[in-house]
Amino acid sequence: TRVAILISGGGSNMVKLVESMTGDHPARPVLVASNDPTAGGLVKARDMGLETAAADHRAHESREAFEAILQEALEDAGVDLVALAGFMRVLTPGFVSAWKGRMLNIHPSLLPKYRGLNTHARAIEAGDTEAGCTVHEVVADLDAGRILGQARVSVLEGDTPDTLSERVLSREHELYPLVLRRFVEGERSPLLI
Ligand code: GRF
Repeated sequence: TRVAILISGGGSNMVKLVESMTGDHPARPVLVASNDPTAGGLVKARDMGLETAAADHRAHESREAFEAILQEALEDAGVDLVALAGFMRVLTPGFVSAWKGRMLNIHPSLLPKYRGLNTHARAIEAGDTEAGCTVHEVVADLDAGRILGQARVSVLEGDTPDTLSERVLSREHELYPLVLRRFVEGERSPLLI
């Protein structure tokens, strides 16, 4: 299985996914793409010898125009599966339907709680004692779609969004590689760690 990983920033999840796809793993990373040509993760990807692509979504007059460039890069690389990893753009229903059943995302909350942004601040504000992250199939509705895996962390006294996001991010790094491998191997039941 030929995997593309889409990023917008540092790409720490991308690095862990790439590092996991070795040996007897049935998938290999073939492209790292970003909506931001200055994304730090692109440098990391190149340092790992990966093919990269970037298109500045702000340089395109429409979401569709940006996605057409992205789609071309995905097709040129013969991509079978797209893993969104810290990718901060909402994709149009047209693009999502073209990748139905072949696109995953990781979101830093225990979905269906806290779809959208600022998940850690919202969990702290709500007085939640648990938080975490979710890997799900991407559908047109934001942060919806079948849940393929979740990892939980405790919310600690005095936690700030920064301290909580750090704790959740390290669990993302555990969860995503495990879920991606299961998905490639045909498993669809949720992994809860
Ligand atoms: C982090 O906030 C993470 O929780 C979310 O995307 C952001 C950046 O992740 N998934 P990464 O380091 O670019 O993978």
